[in-house]
Amino acid sequence: MSILSIYGCVDSDNLPCDDSTALSKVSEFPLGTAIKWDEFQLDTNYFHIAKTQFSSYTPENIFKSENLHPTRYNYNWEQADSLMSFCLNNSKRLHGHTLIWHKQLPQWIIDFQGNKSEWEEIFRLHIITIVQHFKGKIKSWDVVNEAFDEDGTLSNTLWKEKIGPGYIEKAFRYAEEADPECLLFYNDFNLESNPVKRTAVLNYLDHLRSRGVKVDGIGLQMHIDVITADATLYALAFRSVYEKNYQLHLSELDISLNPSGKNIVLNEELLLQQADIMGKIVNLYKQVPLPYQYGITFWGISDKNSWIRSNYNRMDYPLLYDDQYNPKPAYCKIKSIL
Ligand code: XIL
Repeated sequence: MSILSIYGCVDSDNLPCDDSTALSKVSEFPLGTAIKWDEFQLDTNYFHIAKTQFSSYTPENIFKSENLHPTRYNYNWEQADSLMSFCLNNSKRLHGHTLIWHKQLPQWIIDFQGNKSEWEEIFRLHIITIVQHFKGKIKSWDVVNEAFDEDGTLSNTLWKEKIGPGYIEKAFRYAEEADPECLLFYNDFNLESNPVKRTAVLNYLDHLRSRGVKVDGIGLQMHIDVITADATLYALAFRSVYEKNYQLHLSELDISLNPSGKNIVLNEELLLQQADIMGKIVNLYKQVPLPYQYGITFWGISDKNSWIRSNYNRMDYPLLYDDQYNPKPAYCKIKSIL
């Protein structure tokens, strides 16, 4: 079945839109996808699209501490190195995700018993070992992920509890020490839509910078949905980040069609709403000054592999490709805008 008969997908010249030319070829800034390791290895459709459409990869799970650092004295480099060499051989940028997060931790960290300085030692070694391992190859890291609550206060995470509220500053300092050339990002959700949280994060990072800490960029995750999407808010958010001299990464973009988890039937209206929002976001991003455009990363390729379905246990269609790897109207829309 052709894409036209499935979606009636057309580009701005009313020509049928397909994915035979790559998105990244028509884009002036990096376009990325999260990479799920098993699919990348085993699913030829997934691999083909990842390889042809996108110029930047973010490992979806294999660089998280439960996978990369499974026991105290052992690191599992195998998959990470293999993805790294694929990227080096195929001119893909690999964005490191993520050094310090309170989720997807290995059991040994959760169970670790120690005083503050012992905790700081495992924290420091974790960061230094990983950043040094990829030194010169990985040029950017999400150093700290999701450290703030919606009201703008620091979340009470394991790291804050064990190391103290200065853990964010320490994480950035250790990462810089391990690879001074690397771009260092803070990454979080709802920063695009919640000005209270975003302002708190910006003030906090500005404060770190005033203390001589290197912070290069901010990742707005952008796990958004068709009900609450608001391009006016996003325009403000993008501006507030680059005006303060932070590189802007739309780091985990997906657009849920079913945020409240109903029994929905996928229809043309929803697909077109999704395409419309995707188009507005890409349009806004094109207006971000070039030095601040770190790129847009989609949090996956096909709806069938999206984390939303498994994580929230609901049927959803948040990505650019459908379950059969056909490009959706959102794909065609952004292609016509890029
Ligand atoms: C998600 C992955 O996509 C899932 O496969 C995993 O089970 C849980 O984590 N914010 C982040 C990402 O920073 O790392 C998360 O990724 C999604 C939310």
